[in-house]
Amino acid sequence: MTGGRLTVADFQSISKKRKIVSLTAYTAPVAAALDPYCDLLLVGDSVAMVLYGMQGTQGANIEMMVRHGKAVVSHSSNAMVVVDLPYGTYEHSEELAVKSAKEIIKKTGACGVKLEGGMAIESQIKSITSAGIPVLGHIGLLPQKFSNTSEFRITGRDEIEADQLQKDLEAVTTAGAFGVVLEGIIEPVARQLSINARIPLIGIGASVSCHGQILVTDDLIGLYADFTPKFVKKYANVQDIIQKAAQAYSADVISQKFPDKSHCFWPDKK
Ligand code: KIV
Repeated sequence: MTGGRLTVADFQSISKKRKIVSLTAYTAPVAAALDPYCDLLLVGDSVAMVLYGMQGTQGANIEMMVRHGKAVVSHSSNAMVVVDLPYGTYEHSEELAVKSAKEIIKKTGACGVKLEGGMAIESQIKSITSAGIPVLGHIGLLPQKFSNTSEFRITGRDEIEADQLQKDLEAVTTAGAFGVVLEGIIEPVARQLSINARIPLIGIGASVSCHGQILVTDDLIGLYADFTPKFVKKYANVQDIIQKAAQAYSADVISQKFPDKSHCFWPDKK
């Protein structure tokens, strides 16, 4: 590490010494607050649900990812920033995948992109990494496959699923990904994948055996109230703090306690 932003090489060497710390970020102030404590900030397509109130992540698009990616890159200086390729921008062809990845990297200045899928998108990952863009894989529960969180399902529960996960990890690794997000996978399978992995595995609902962890920041701070998955640990209740502040403000405005003299502008003294 040279004192600047973490690189793919730093990320991989850190994973051999301690667990990788990563969180999602979509906005400038949150990126700035998280940056000193994270190795990786993910501008996830969960932004569509968390900030825009959509039912799933399928509503995210390149323009949305670029807008939030730019804000996060420009207000962080330590963590690697990776931006999700949104639904519909890489699955159909290698050319489209490379075009989308290049656009996101060029317009945001992020370090890399994340794509959801294993064997099915091996050639897309290979094409993007061959174009010199680092790729973070994502296997297991793939939110882009569903239009609603109620359809989300944990995987790895039988031998066929466990075997498929192993094949997906192998495909993503062979295609040149520098790491992989493992989402919603039962513990024994996640543990076995972590033992066999040749690149760092970042878990979300995939147990402590992974080489690092990621959570959606709004879940972690208790700001996103629509849906709290079992694997989330809430470290704060920001929604409660916001409500209390709004309630106190409302009372002050109505009773004319706010603004008081200290909040007013006065004529210059002669
Ligand atoms: O979009 C996202 O926030 C993600 C994380 C949940 C890993 O993909």
